[in-house]
Parts: sequence; C-alpha cells; structure tokens
Amino acid sequence: SGARTLRAQNLVVQSNVPPNILEKARASSAEKLHNRLHHPLCTLRKIIESYFDRELGVKQGRGPVQFAKFNDLPPIVSTRACFDELLVAPSHPSRRPTDTYYLDASTVLRAHTTAHDTELLRQGYRAFLVSGDVYRRDSIDKKHYPIFHQMDGVRLFDGAPPEAWVLDDLKDTLYGLAQYLFGHHRNTSGESRGAQALAAEPSAEPVPVRWVDAEFPFTRCSLELEVFWQGDWLEVLGCGVIQPDVLRAGNVDPAQCTGWAFGLGLERLAMVLFGVPDIRLFWSADPRFIRQFRDGEITQFQSYSKFPPVYKDVSMWVKDSPGTDGTSDGFDGRAFHENDLCELVRGIAGDLVEDISRVDEFIHPKTKRHSICYRITYRSPDRSLTDEEINRIQSRVRECIQDELHDVAEL
Ligand code: PHE
Repeated sequence: SGARTLRAQNLVVQSNVPPNILEKARASSAEKLHNRLHHPLCTLRKIIESYFDRELGVKQGRGPVQFAKFNDLPPIVSTRACFDELLVAPSHPSRRPTDTYYLDASTVLRAHTTAHDTELLRQGYRAFLVSGDVYRRDSIDKKHYPIFHQMDGVRLFDGAPPEAWVLDDLKDTLYGLAQYLFGHHRNTSGESRGAQALAAEPSAEPVPVRWVDAEFPFTRCSLELEVFWQGDWLEVLGCGVIQPDVLRAGNVDPAQCTGWAFGLGLERLAMVLFGVPDIRLFWSADPRFIRQFRDGEITQFQSYSKFPPVYKDVSMWVKDSPGTDGTSDGFDGRAFHENDLCELVRGIAGDLVEDISRVDEFIHPKTKRHSICYRITYRSPDRSLTDEEINRIQSRVRECIQDELHDVAEL
C-alpha cells in the first residue's frame, strides 16, 4: 500500500486500491452480496425488481413494461463510463482520488451503477435495472463501508414526450415503489411478511414521502425521494430526466426519445427494512447472521450478543489545504484528507474498525499548526477482541501514518 503518491485529481499516477478491496471487486458475481440467496440485499433487490415486473404495469393500467435486469456486470469500468459520458466534470469532487478508487488514470472501481447506463443504451435497451457492488473511499461508521450496493433504473419513451410528462411518470413510479417497500410495514414491525404480501393493502395509510430538489450532472429536474420512517426522513433515492447529452452518448437521439433514470442504495434501505444496525453485518461470515433470513422475506434482525468496543486515540499535526490559514505548516505536498486515514486504518484492521471520529482539534496559537485527535473504535461483530491484538493493530496504524502519510500528517 505504498500507493499514496496520488496528486491532484486526474493526475493519478498509481493505483489507490488496497488488496482487500480489489479482492472483493474481483469476486465472482455469484459471491456478490446482492446475488447471495437469503441475503437481505439479495431479497431487497428481488423485491424491487418484482415491483417493476408486476406491480408497475398493473397499477398504471398499462401492460407490464419489460425491464431488462443486469446483476452481473463487473465493477471495473472506465472513467469515461463512470464520469465523462455522464457529464461529471473533470473537477467534480467525486472524481478525486480521495473519493474514488483508481486502478490507473482511466480505470476505476465504479462509484455508482449509473456507470453502465450509456453502454446499455448503446446496446439498445430501453428499460432496464442494473444492480451491483459500488466502491467509494469514505469515512468509517455504522452506515458507511467502502463497498456498498446500488440499483439504477432507466426508462426511455419513444416519441420524445415532454419533460414534464416524463417527470410525472418517474414520480408516480417511484412513489409506488416507496409504498410497495414501506407501506405494508406499518403496524407490522417484527412480523415476517413474504414478498407476495408486499403490495400495500388498500386500507393501509400511505407512508409519507417528500421530494427534495437535487443536483446530478446526468439528469435534469433532479430530485431525491425521502420517506418518513420511524420518526425520521430517510433519503431513499436520486432521480431525474436524463440529460440529452447522456442520451447522445448512448446513441439515442433526444429528438426521438426522452427518459428518466433513478439510483438507490440497497444497504440504506435494507438497514431500516430489516433492522440491521451496522452496515458491516451484511459482510458477516458468522452463520448467526445469514441464518436469520429467508429468501424473499423481510424479517427483523435479532442482534446477537454485541461484543465490547475498544477505543484508541491518535493525535497528529496535519497539513491543511493551502489558503486555509496562509501560514507555513512545515509540510510539502497535498493536504491531509480524513479518507486517507480511514483507508489506512481499514487496510490494517479490516472489518474490526467500526468508527473513526474527530474528538478534538486545535490550532497552535503561535505556530498556527493544526492538530487533530481521532478516536478509533475497534469492535468485532463476531467475537471479543483482546488488548494484545488491538495494541498490535494500533502500533501498525501509527507506523503506517509515519510511513505513508508523512507528507500530510505527523504524530
Ligand atoms: N448515481 C447517483 C448516486 O450515486 C444516483 C442517481 C442515479 C441519480 C440516476 C439520478 C439518476 O448518488
């Protein structure tokens, strides 16, 4: 992992993909969680697909639309497919090597399943759903893991109906999906319900939803759908009318066709629907996890004993981006980014790291140097950790900070 000599965005000189991530990216498609029988992510994927297969056509009083399904597309894609053809500007933050995994300057681990949309359009598909594992360098906590799963959906309409009409169809479709997923759950939490029983009961109160304006480079009139669930607004998906230039990249003439697209994260939804409290549990090899679930059924996760956490603090002087204080901080090179620390810790501790948060920070009054203290929470979902093992991991972490982050951080 001496691969941190990454420069400013788009000047990627070396891969920033650690071996543990690459190994998961290269796993066979049958091993991917969204394809594993009985796994909640697989069940959720199938339930959403079944909404598009059956419910949609019937409810809207037209024949069922055939959505082609893609669940096996490999996650290694070009920057062109992942960003350029989707009009993600070269300077867009999501393209930075602090956020995206680069294999080389023009190849990435897909940061979203939207990366397949233009290729599938070029292949002639007009209605499709793509599900897969996606990869983002990110902070670490109960809701963030560098690999998660998304589903994207695309639908084109011949004759280029007006944008407002396409937007209405999109909102109808996704409102129906939200009701399909959440509606039936009212007053039934804890009860096991089969996918067959998922259609909202006519008498049930609809689950409250709201549309929030959003911005995506590849769509216009973009929106996010939020669902009011267990006392909170939960962000469920992003969507919009496909930009004409994205259609053109897919060899579709915007004068002949208009269409919509949406994308949703499966973990977020699965965590609330199945009551899974920590995103790492989806990766658990402990049979107590997978044995609780049956294909096609949404049931509540019963947490097995939670093992105690071990906390370790690490303080360091960090290099800020130029211009934040204007004083010399004794470093050269790029700025410190929290994701680099998270990645480094995860490279050493693997799934034993549960959370990394800033607990303290200050600017030295004289030297103006910036110091941050991070608290690393170690915990295994499957067993008790020994002091000895955590001390070993923590000294490795400190060594690696010195070896690999010395141009941006100092212990
Ligand atoms: N790709 C977007 C994301 O990852 C979601 C999205 C897909 C939004 C398609 C609009 C249309 O957040």
